[in-house]
Amino acid sequence: MTEWGMHRWKYFDITHRFHVVCNPTSVAKPEELIGLMRLEPGSPSLDIACGKAEMLVRLAEAYDIRGVGVDLSPYFMKDAKELKRQRVPGSNLEFVNVNGAEYHRENTKNFDLSMCIGASWIYDGHRGTLRAMKGMTKPGGIVMVGEPFFTEEPSKEYLTTEDFSRDEFSTHYGNIQIGVEEGLTPLYTMVSNLDDWDRYETLKWYAVDEFARNNPDDPVLPEIQARNAKAQEIFLRWGRGLCGWAICLLRIQV
Ligand SMILES: C[S@@+](CC[C@H](N)C(=O)[O-])C[C@H]1O[C@@H](n2cnc3c(N)ncnc32)[C@H](O)[C@@H]1O
Repeated sequence: MTEWGMHRWKYFDITHRFHVVCNPTSVAKPEELIGLMRLEPGSPSLDIACGKAEMLVRLAEAYDIRGVGVDLSPYFMKDAKELKRQRVPGSNLEFVNVNGAEYHRENTKNFDLSMCIGASWIYDGHRGTLRAMKGMTKPGGIVMVGEPFFTEEPSKEYLTTEDFSRDEFSTHYGNIQIGVEEGLTPLYTMVSNLDDWDRYETLKWYAVDEFARNNPDDPVLPEIQARNAKAQEIFLRWGRGLCGWAICLLRIQV
């Protein structure tokens, strides 16, 4: 089921309706990362694929940064603007509804902090993402990326069902090594546990159930339920335990 009969962004809007952060972490854990960043007021900060902008809003609350959030989903951009309005209305946050790959081409060494948490396909994988973030960040600045990894060798059956190639993801060690090879200094990693994965995956089930009960005649409902059922099966049969996830902080060398 790779072809989208419905609008892809609508699907993600529905399945992530109850997520505060749209990746396998807890609501509390990102505080650790934010505390370590120690940014100056007004520090230019970028979040590629910012989703609902929870990270940028927290950074604005903690450090009064100047932030740019880029995301291709019009639904998440609307949520991001609403979150800013509710929590940091006077802050210097702007949101741009464009492809991260295009934004990246126009911005060089502008930011003290560049993030891309859970969207490395934009730059053809983890290495490409680190290169892109590095290209947009000032010397001495920080890069923060979120990337899956395999905790053990994936089965052929899993790879085929997910339509993944074996080299789509590395190991945790491999991901950090790629950072080192790209000339970055690893500072900190926040690795998710099963609780974080269960929250991320099963909140989607909850959201689909809610959507189905409120919109029983919606023409996209059968496709949403079919996609959700497939994701549920893959997660329970293979992904839970096999797939790891870490958010990594790395420093650009001066
Ligand atoms: C897994 S979510 C992560 C969102 C956010 N970083 C977070 O952790 O809450 C992936 C995000 O990538 C966005 N996205 C997907 N393709 C994109 C692209 N080509 N350019 C910009 N954003 C994109 C989606 O809309 C979604 O918000």
